[in-house]
Amino acid sequence: MSYECPSWTIDPANGECRMTKKSMRLGIIGCGQMGEALLRGMLTAKLVTPDRVLATDLAEERMKTIVQRYGIHGMRDGRAVAKGADVLLLAVKPQGVNELFAQLRGAVSDRMLVISVITGVQLIRLEAELGGKAHVVRAVPNTPTLVGCGMTAVAGGAHASADDLRTAVDLFNAVGATLVVEERHLDAVTGLSGSGPAYAFVMIEALADGGVKAGLSREVALQLAARTLLGAAQLLLQTGEHPGQLKDRVASPGGTTIAGLRELEAGGVRAALINAVEAATRRAAELGQGRK
Ligand SMILES: NC(=O)c1ccc[n+]([C@@H]2O[C@H](COP(=O)([O-])OP(=O)(O)OC[C@H]3O[C@@H](n4cnc5c(N)ncnc54)[C@H](OP(=O)(O)O)[C@@H]3O)[C@@H](O)[C@H]2O)c1
Repeated sequence: MSYECPSWTIDPANGECRMTKKSMRLGIIGCGQMGEALLRGMLTAKLVTPDRVLATDLAEERMKTIVQRYGIHGMRDGRAVAKGADVLLLAVKPQGVNELFAQLRGAVSDRMLVISVITGVQLIRLEAELGGKAHVVRAVPNTPTLVGCGMTAVAGGAHASADDLRTAVDLFNAVGATLVVEERHLDAVTGLSGSGPAYAFVMIEALADGGVKAGLSREVALQLAARTLLGAAQLLLQTGEHPGQLKDRVASPGGTTIAGLRELEAGGVRAALINAVEAATRRAAELGQGRK
């Protein structure tokens, strides 16, 4: 048997508090691109209702727009949001964290779940700045999150429970797919799925250039290129087959595809992609250590 208080279900078997999603109060600090994408996803997935969302943004006009667009409560500042929230989403740029932490000092309770998408700010710092015992989950989303097709990796801090991670996964699943990883892997996540959309855009642009060179209009070539990458990714995810197997199936002996593949190998495309992920991972680690 369990009993409910306004935002929590307490399981008497193990004494653990579980957030009841429908009744949770979600706080959002920073309603820019990512804050809005997550808000929209959560409302669409009905993880939370507008009357249970408190949000703030430094930019007054932006705040007004968000309040009007979604019917949520706009608050004066981050401190007011934190005081009223069960789950607090931090979605400001890394340059704004000192000001944010100063605002939040003493306002984050030991029960609250704080989810940060702030690039490069590590769990150890988040925990120290938010009062030492805060339940913190750090997330690395990517830009397709803005259109509901994101890939996010989340890592839990020292005080984050399995339920906290589940809540974070539910949140990011509302805007794509989510994996739980250890924090030490988040730089590699940044190098692959975080920076990866840019690699994909370069591939799409280059494929379209090839189409134009072969006589297609730019518009047609771009559609073909983008939908080819999208379809190939869906085929791989839905069949669960190895990419090498799927590639072999397209490449018939003496055919067109193997002729194209030979050129990709001659151009060192595999090594270039591996090096890109490695370089971006290294750079994420440098930025995380505060190196310019
Ligand atoms: N966008 C993405 O696809 C993406 C992907 C992965 C990770 N991220 C990370 O997510 C975070 C947010 O990115 P974003 O693209 O959403 O940035 P953004 O569009 O610039 O939004 C951040 C918003 O937060 C506001 N803000 C800053 N400090 C604040 C404070 N103390 N209280 C209230 N509001 C505050 C900013 O206002 P002002 O403009 O007035 O300062 C701005 O409107 C960043 O750390 C970013 O690196 C974003």
